[in-house]
Amino acid sequence: MKTADQSVERRLAVSLRPARRDEHWLIVRRVLREGLDPTKLNWRRFVMAEGADGAILGFAQMKEFATGAREFGSLVVEPESRGEGIGGLLLTHFLEKFPRPVYLFCGLHNVRYYRRFGFRRLAEDEFPPAPLQRKWRMARLMVRIFRVKVAAMVLE
Ligand SMILES: CC(C)(COP(=O)(O)OP(=O)(O)OC[C@H]1O[C@@H](n2cnc3c(N)ncnc32)[C@H](O)[C@@H]1OP(=O)(O)O)[C@@H](O)C(=O)NCCC(=O)NCCS
Repeated sequence: MKTADQSVERRLAVSLRPARRDEHWLIVRRVLREGLDPTKLNWRRFVMAEGADGAILGFAQMKEFATGAREFGSLVVEPESRGEGIGGLLLTHFLEKFPRPVYLFCGLHNVRYYRRFGFRRLAEDEFPPAPLQRKWRMARLMVRIFRVKVAAMVLE
C-alpha cells in the first residue's frame, strides 16, 4: 500500500507536456483497453503525464468544436499510478486552460469522481450544445438498448 508521502513524492515527479505524433498508437491502445470512446483521438489535442523516468503515466484531451462547445475526455491513468492525483492534475490543467462550460461523458461509476471537481450531471430534459447533443442522443439510445450506463456532465 502507498503512503500519503509516497503519493505526494510521485506526483511532484510527474510533469505534463503536449503529446507527440509517435504517441498516437499508445493513446489508442490505452483508450481501447479502458473501453473508452475510441473516436476523435487526435494526438495534437492530448496532454501526457510523464514520470521522472520518462514513462507515460496518463493522458487526457479537450475537444473544441466549431460551435464553441468543449468536451473533456479520454482521461486514462495507468493502473499502478492511480490514486496519486495524476487524473486530477490532468483535469485541472485543462480546466485552467479552457473557458467553461466544459462537458464530458462518462460511465456512471465515474460520476462521483468528476463531482469532486465541480461537474454536475445533466438532468433528463437537459442537452449539451451541438455537436455534443447528437453524441448524447446516441449514448442515451445505447443506454436503452444495451443498458450501457453513461452520464453527461457539465462544469459551468
Ligand atoms: C478515473 C481515473 C482517471 C482517476 O485517476 P486517478 O489518477 O486515480 O485520480 P486522482 O488520483 O486524481 O483521484 C483519486 C481520488 O479519486 C477517487 N476516485 C477514483 N476513481 C473514482 C471513481 N470512479 N469514483 C469516485 N472516486 C474515485 C479515489 O478514491 C481517490 O480518492 P482520495 O483522493 O480521497 O484518495 C482512473 O481511475 C482511470 O484511469 N480509470 C480508467 C479510465 C477511466 O474510467 N477514465 C475516465 C473516463 S470518463
